[in-house]
Amino acid sequence: MQTNTEAEILEPQDWSFPVPIAFGPGRLTEIGQRCRTMHLKNPLIVTDSGSRNLPFIGQLQSHLAEAGLSSGVFSDISPNPRDDEIETGRASFRSGGHDAIIAIGGGSAMDGGKAICLTAENEIDLWAFEFEQAPPEIDGGFPALITIPTTAGTGAETESTAMVTHVEKGMKFCIWHPDLKPALALLDPELTVGLPVNLTAWTGADALTHAIEAYCVPGFHPLCDGLALEGLALVSKWLPVAVREPENMAARGGMLVGSCLAGIAFQKGLGLVHAISHMVGAEYNTQHGLTNAIVLPVVLRFNLPGLEHKVKRMADSMGLLDHGIDEFITEIERLLDEIGIPRSLDAIDVPQNCAQRIAEKAILDSAAGTNPRAASVEQIRELTATAIVKAR
Ligand SMILES: [Fe+2]
Repeated sequence: MQTNTEAEILEPQDWSFPVPIAFGPGRLTEIGQRCRTMHLKNPLIVTDSGSRNLPFIGQLQSHLAEAGLSSGVFSDISPNPRDDEIETGRASFRSGGHDAIIAIGGGSAMDGGKAICLTAENEIDLWAFEFEQAPPEIDGGFPALITIPTTAGTGAETESTAMVTHVEKGMKFCIWHPDLKPALALLDPELTVGLPVNLTAWTGADALTHAIEAYCVPGFHPLCDGLALEGLALVSKWLPVAVREPENMAARGGMLVGSCLAGIAFQKGLGLVHAISHMVGAEYNTQHGLTNAIVLPVVLRFNLPGLEHKVKRMADSMGLLDHGIDEFITEIERLLDEIGIPRSLDAIDVPQNCAQRIAEKAILDSAAGTNPRAASVEQIRELTATAIVKAR
């Protein structure tokens, strides 16, 4: 059953679909040849501080060297990338004479790589790329960007936005430019096999949240909606398997593709889960997917009444026999329990007295603007307070 209204269908739309994707176990070995085909000579590898010493960085450098390329590594990217780190990355790009960026790692590495790409070859301040403003004029374009996710969750590998913390303001902002697109997203599930169980669960829950929030964003976008539903089908099937059997390559592959599809889908927008989670993460440095996972059921109980038609299709994607709102939320909660997600933000040290402040910031987040149900600061404060004390 199609779920859009006639008014939505008649609204003019601009749709943009992404980038070349190479998927499959072992595809990292192709990176050197791929770079040569793109006439690249000296890419800067951007990764997060936690990934610097993981084997895939060395493997990537070896594959590049085997193809005759130089490379450098910039790894001073924290779990919630900061504007001062991006500035240091830009300096590293320039001093190393690099001609491309390979962002490899989790969401923070993707965001860090994209943010460095935005400013690497121009003199424009990073915050001029803030999502809510008109994008700045770029003279020289951007260096080539290749993305290689090593977690299955952020879905950040095919699109141009990045979340960066404005250190002075203590807030996360979305930055982007419509002309920044990865030249290649390389999805190699072998790179995710070593991911610890907790990160597999947390990043996977981020993908789950992307699929659900993107699908619930109002408007006519059948391309994104199709991807969101297929992403939800893959993630809900394979996430518990990947957590239970970390070496199961089909589960790792299913999750990597599910996460990618859900990531493409959210060019349509996200919702209050992300709006709240962005601000909690900026203040308390909590892991993004974990924060989302805890907040998700609280926001679903707020958002889903009135979206029965969408719940039915999401329940179908997940193979549920019962298509009611309560049953859908119960199934999501069961999934979160199965993968070991705590039941409150309090359990990850988010203090009870921050709800008002988080709400005042969250309502300004771009994700709040596409939530399917309008919410006041007071309502967001209540949702946040509930998530802190008892989300499920
Ligand atoms: Fe996310």
